[in-house]
Amino acid sequence: LNYNVSRERLYILEVLFNGLRRLEYRGYDSSGIALDADAQLPSPASPSASPSDARPYAGAPPLVFRQEGKIENLVRSVYSEVDEKDVNLDAAFSVHAGIAHTRWATHGVPAPRNSHPQSSGAGDEFLVVHNGIITNYEVLKETLTRHGFTFESDTDTEVIPKLAKFVFDKSHDEEGDVTFSQVVMEVMRQLEGAYALIFKSPHYPNELIACKRGSQLILGVNELSGQQNGKSFHDVKTLTTNGKPKELFFSSDLCAIVEHTKNYLALEDNEICHIKDGSVSILKFDPHKEKPASVQRALSVLEMEVEQIKKGSYDHFMQKEIHEQPHSLKTTMRGRLKDGGVLLGGLKEYLKTIRRCRRVVFIGCGTSYNAALAARPFVEELTGIPVTMEVASDLLDRQGPIYREDTAVFVSQSGETADTLMALDYALENGALCVGITNTVGSTLSRKTHCGVHINAGCEIGVASTKAYTSQIVAMAMMALAIGSDQISTQARRDTIISGLNNLSSNVSEVLKLDVEMKELASSLIDSESLLVFGRGYNYATALEGALKVKEVALMHSEGMLAGEMKHGPLALVDENLPIIVIATRDACFSKQQSVIQQLLSRKGRLIVMCSRGDASAVCPSGSCRVIEVPEVADCLQPVINIIPLQLLAYHLTVLRGFDVDQPRNLAKSVTTQ
Ligand code: G6P
Repeated sequence: LNYNVSRERLYILEVLFNGLRRLEYRGYDSSGIALDADAQLPSPASPSASPSDARPYAGAPPLVFRQEGKIENLVRSVYSEVDEKDVNLDAAFSVHAGIAHTRWATHGVPAPRNSHPQSSGAGDEFLVVHNGIITNYEVLKETLTRHGFTFESDTDTEVIPKLAKFVFDKSHDEEGDVTFSQVVMEVMRQLEGAYALIFKSPHYPNELIACKRGSQLILGVNELSGQQNGKSFHDVKTLTTNGKPKELFFSSDLCAIVEHTKNYLALEDNEICHIKDGSVSILKFDPHKEKPASVQRALSVLEMEVEQIKKGSYDHFMQKEIHEQPHSLKTTMRGRLKDGGVLLGGLKEYLKTIRRCRRVVFIGCGTSYNAALAARPFVEELTGIPVTMEVASDLLDRQGPIYREDTAVFVSQSGETADTLMALDYALENGALCVGITNTVGSTLSRKTHCGVHINAGCEIGVASTKAYTSQIVAMAMMALAIGSDQISTQARRDTIISGLNNLSSNVSEVLKLDVEMKELASSLIDSESLLVFGRGYNYATALEGALKVKEVALMHSEGMLAGEMKHGPLALVDENLPIIVIATRDACFSKQQSVIQQLLSRKGRLIVMCSRGDASAVCPSGSCRVIEVPEVADCLQPVINIIPLQLLAYHLTVLRGFDVDQPRNLAKSVTTQ
């Protein structure tokens, strides 16, 4: 907004492209961008746009580009369009505001017509980027079709800009002028589902509107000090309706704005943020009230460094994040292990209530579910409270019983996973105490839960979660220690775990030295079609999580299994070809794992055994297995150590098999749709 073009050519365009690159991990099957154009330029995306049914507006249609595939395809296509037309770039992109989007397909295949921004039709009178799902889009589509609208995409999103145009035309015909926020409010009144939306319209040049219900939306505000248009801005604490910030950013993730500013606010549900000529106003939409209330919001200061979202000297984010674990675990524990006990500020007030609860229910998806599963044994042990496990979508499918006397613990790296958030709403409705374990400050999960623990692992970009997994386990270990801290009988056990936590980071550094060994192991498995991982007790979760890593990034079929169940089915699969990893580090299940290994060896199983240092001959006296030796730590913390060789294995397997490490096929990091 009001930026100095001569200072940096194509500034907004590059800001948008970079923002998309930062968000690409959330979805990467197609992308798009819309910018204000200079008056003479035709819109390349709507060559046939006949403005006959479009209401005239001053200036040219916005420039709109949509591309299938990764963001670099979009970047190339934008620049090639511009080059082809031999347009002076400074002139073409003398823009005030732009919007952009990277998509993870829900409704409709990845294709330019299904990419965002979605348009109201000819003339691109309303353009919308959307994160979330509109549940009543079919009804709206039917109504709009009856009013003469034709639809070009298969998306649920397309109804939004078309509805905006419908509202705009109707209000104009009936009442004359209508403001941008009035249009958006009427659209919101009719939309059902979850969404974060940004609207752009050539009817309202220099204006953008963002609004949300359910999905996360962040407003970033650059340093407000200094001069602009001859005025000074020093107030970074409060963003008033009269504030005039220099640069404003909307994003569904802080990662996309951290390189521009650390001042941000997370919009609340039903808030409408209106930017007009560089000033910001926030309105609270209430479907039952004619007029929205204007709200004042304080800005928060983001505690994230730009380095966190860069690869540095690593080839991939996943690799960087695996190797960051000695540090990320330290930050998870920083300031929390005090005077031989645990201090968790976000839980302090609720510990008594949790101690009195009837059961703890852990709820999550994917890796976060696995982390909770790893925590389950020690939470039960240290608190004496029974723990049940729920995959969020399954809890919702079954409408499983949740009671007022329950403590529901929601585990989510992003804090934005739709299934987990729906389960959270369900648990809140049922009156449970809701605790959040998340990596994302300001996320929907952290805002909606009663209390919780931020895992502080730093921004995780690789789609396959690694450092968040280990930090989640440690955060839950600290939670269990805090809940159980009133029990005298377990004091010695707690002391052992706390000293284990204090030494964990250096043991993680040790286990990371297995990198080369894991690369060798990966090259021996490169052509395998399948991999089994057996674990039990504390390390059942390690088996599931190790197999999930191999499955999601190396695209190799892989199953994690409870070793106790081996003889009840999986044993039938065993032959000399199928590689099997058995986790047999020292804990109460060690001797049982020794017999599992013997049973597998007697069926000529191709075994890779993970054991504690010095235990190679104890786990495999015949010497016929490949052995991975890891440092031994307190048994309940061993899953943090044991997952690391498996993360390294998955990483190297992926690279050797030639697949995309950070953006595995078909997956997205934050699945914000159900
Ligand atoms: C997606 C990701 C997984 C992740 C899961 C839960 O499926 O691909 O890596 O574990 O969501 O995400 P959350 O942010 O809730 O931990």
